[in-house]
Amino acid sequence: MMRRVAGAMGALIAAVVAAPGPAADVVKGNQVYMMHCAACHGMSGVSVMPGAPNFARLERLLQPDTALLASIRNGRNAMPAYAGILTDREILDVIAYLRTLRQ
Ligand code: HEC
Repeated sequence: MMRRVAGAMGALIAAVVAAPGPAADVVKGNQVYMMHCAACHGMSGVSVMPGAPNFARLERLLQPDTALLASIRNGRNAMPAYAGILTDREILDVIAYLRTLRQ
């Protein structure tokens, strides 16, 4: 049992190390979220603006990071565009954070 857990941890660490570029930073993503996103999407991901997806219920999150990156960069209807305000790195950090909001 312990060996299986250790083996899984080893595989996980190897996968993280092998990933191209730095892994997304959810701590930075949290800071970006509180500053730029929480006003509409809510502090805990329960949206406070009508029409904004509820991330606590995984709304709109069943899409690849690349699709979410494009929406956040370019904006979408009532949501402003973040290109020029946030770097792609910051947007990817915040996407990683969105994926932790599930309740
Ligand atoms: C002014 C309010 C507002 C702010 C601020 C805001 N959003 Fe949104 N967001 C919305 C609304 C409204 C939608 C739904 C847009 C639509 O599809 O009609 C949305 C949609 C989304 C989606 C789903 C996109 C898709 O492809 O379906 C994501 C992901 C998202 N927002 C992330 C963020 C992040 C990350 C931030 C901060 C960097 C942010 N939003 C800031 C209002 C906002």
